[in-house]
Amino acid sequence: VADFAEVRLHVVTGKGGTGKTTVAAALALALAAGGRRTLLTEVEGRQGIAQLFDCPPLPYEERKVAVAPDGGDVYALAVDPEAALLEYLEMFYNLRRAGSALKRIGAVDFATTIAPGLRDVLLTGKVKEAVTRNRRGGPRYDAVVLDAPPTGRIARFLNVNTEVAGLAKVGPIRSQADSVMALLRSPATAVHLVSVLEEMPVQETIDGVRDLRAVRLPVGAVIVNQVRPPFLPEGQLRAAARGRLPGNQLRTGLRAAGLDPAPDLLASLTAEAADRATRILLEQSNRQELAELKLPMYELPLLSDEIELGELYRLAGLLRQHVAGSPAAREPAR
Ligand SMILES: Nc1ncnc2c1ncn2[C@@H]1O[C@H](COP(=O)(O)OP(=O)(O)OP(=O)(O)O)[C@@H](O)[C@H]1O
Ligand SMILES: [Mg+2]
Repeated sequence: VADFAEVRLHVVTGKGGTGKTTVAAALALALAAGGRRTLLTEVEGRQGIAQLFDCPPLPYEERKVAVAPDGGDVYALAVDPEAALLEYLEMFYNLRRAGSALKRIGAVDFATTIAPGLRDVLLTGKVKEAVTRNRRGGPRYDAVVLDAPPTGRIARFLNVNTEVAGLAKVGPIRSQADSVMALLRSPATAVHLVSVLEEMPVQETIDGVRDLRAVRLPVGAVIVNQVRPPFLPEGQLRAAARGRLPGNQLRTGLRAAGLDPAPDLLASLTAEAADRATRILLEQSNRQELAELKLPMYELPLLSDEIELGELYRLAGLLRQHVAGSPAAREPAR
C-alpha cells in the first residue's frame, strides 16, 4: 500500500540546497502517474520550477509543464503575493477596483513586503484554494505539491494563519484563516523534509520536525537526497577508513584493470579509500539519526549530472514506489 494515499497537499521543505525544488518536482510527476493531474507550486518568487523544466518564467497562471510517463499531467504555478492579494480582495470584498487603485499608489508592494506575515497569509491562502477548488474555479487537481520555504522557516510559514485569529475575531478574514489552518492540520496535508546525509541538514531536519510538531502540523516523510552508493561491503568499510584495505586485493584489482600496482599508487589509493570510507561511515551515522525520527524514509541517489527532465523522471520513478495516489479509491479529477 502506498504511503500518503489520502494526502492532497504535499509540502516539501528542507535545508537550502538539499533538493527541495528537485524533490517537489519529482513528487508532482510521481503523483501524476496513471492519468492524474497534479499542481506543482512555488511561493518564493525564485522561478525554480521554470528553471528546472527549462521553460520561460511562470506567470501567475497555471501552466502544464510535464506529462507523466504513462499519462497524467503536471501543472505549475508560481504564486505571486501581489496577485494573490488582489485575488483575495476580490474574493472577499469584491474589491478588484480598489485593488488596482492600491496598486497604483504602491500600497500592495508596501503591504506584501513590509508585512511578511500578510504575505504568507496570502501565499498559503492561494495554495489552499488550489487544493480545495471546485469545478468553477479552474482545473481540479488530484494532488498539489508545494515547493516550500526552508526548514528554518516552515513552521512559522504554515502556521501564520493562526496569528490572524488573534487579530480578526470574526468575519471573512477570520474564516478564511481558519479554513487554511483546518486544511494544513488535516490528514489531507503532509509536510515532507528533504535532507542529505550531512551533519547540518540532518540537524535542521530534526529541528524542523520538532517545530512542526510543536504547532500540530502533520509531518510526512523524510526524503534523503543525493545518496552515494557505498563502494565497499559493510565489513570492509571500517578497515578501509583506518587505511587498512587488504593490499593483495588492491593489487589484484589494479592488475585486472591493466595497471601496475606500484607502491606509491597503492598508498595514494589507500588514502583515498580511507577518506571515502570515513565519509560513508559518517553518512551512516547521520542516516541512523534520521531513522530515529521514526518517519517514513525514502532515499534518492546522487545523480552525476545537473538535474534535467530525464533525471526528474528517474527520481519520480523511485518515489512512486513509495508514494502514490490511491489507484482505485478515487476517480481522476478531470
Ligand atoms: N539527487 C540529486 N543528484 C544530483 N544533483 C541533485 C540531486 N538533487 C538535487 N540536485 C542538484 O542540487 C542543486 C540544488 O537542488 P535544488 O535546487 O532542488 O535544491 P533546493 O533545496 O530547492 O535549493 P534552494 O534552497 O536554493 O531552493 C541543484 O543543482 C540540483 O540540480
Ligand atoms: Mg529551491
